[in-house]
Amino acid sequence: MIVETLVNLRGVTRSVVLPDDQELHILRGVDFEVHSGDHTAIIGRSGCGKSTLLNLLGLLDVPTSGELDFQGVPVQQLRGNARARLRGSTVGFVFQQFNLLQGRSALDNVITPLLYAKGRDFWRRRELAMDMLDRVGLAGRARTMPNMLSGGEQQRVAIARALVRRPRLILADEPTGALDVETGQAVMALLDTVATETAAALVTITHDANVAALACACYRLDAGVLTGLNAGLNAHETAGVGA
Ligand SMILES: Nc1ncnc2c1ncn2[C@@H]1O[C@H](COP(=O)(O)OP(=O)(O)OP(=O)(O)O)[C@@H](O)[C@H]1O
Ligand SMILES: [Mg+2]
Repeated sequence: MIVETLVNLRGVTRSVVLPDDQELHILRGVDFEVHSGDHTAIIGRSGCGKSTLLNLLGLLDVPTSGELDFQGVPVQQLRGNARARLRGSTVGFVFQQFNLLQGRSALDNVITPLLYAKGRDFWRRRELAMDMLDRVGLAGRARTMPNMLSGGEQQRVAIARALVRRPRLILADEPTGALDVETGQAVMALLDTVATETAAALVTITHDANVAALACACYRLDAGVLTGLNAGLNAHETAGVGA
């Protein structure tokens, strides 16, 4: 299998100007690469910049300085629309709070990303969404509204929605944060399996040492500085990390 570099960050910073005109330096020179097939975990305390970094990886935001190439293309060369299209076809997001559309069935939620697809994927959207719901074990709940589903089931719908366009890159921001330990483990195992089956890269932000231990590589973000942790990281070493 050819390993593709999906995202490459070199000296990336992200700063925002606060209402009092102070500049807040959220990310301070991050070097990071994501390759197809990577399963990477990023840990770090609340407020250290994890979501900010994930938003950059997923083309939701652009660096303040430094270089970010997405599939070899410098991000500053992509106009807003091109960036949004590339994001839609290449990146799948999973969030802590599931972010499902309320008042729409599980199936309709999973169909939503396919409304922006072209050709076969668009015309076969219902079938593709049903297949994906089946993959996460929820084919029988296709017509159910999110508020009638348990947290774990809602997160499985969200995973189906994130993966239905077969993204090359899956970005999960504390995907188990709102679930009990056992459900969280099942959800993570599912994410891991589907990512492996589709040869996508998976980057997971987590406070959970067990989740971090599942990944092949682990990084720690500390006050906007990203550091690689040794392979073979165990639960003991990561205990106490986080808010
Ligand atoms: N657009 C913004 N304007 C002002 N401050 C921001 C903005 N985005 C992020 N921040 C601040 O930057 C810091 C990092 O935010 P970020 O959401 O990346 O943290 P995090 O590591 O994901 O935290 P958590 O674990 O609590 O989710 C926080 O102090 C946050 O308040
Ligand atoms: Mg966050």
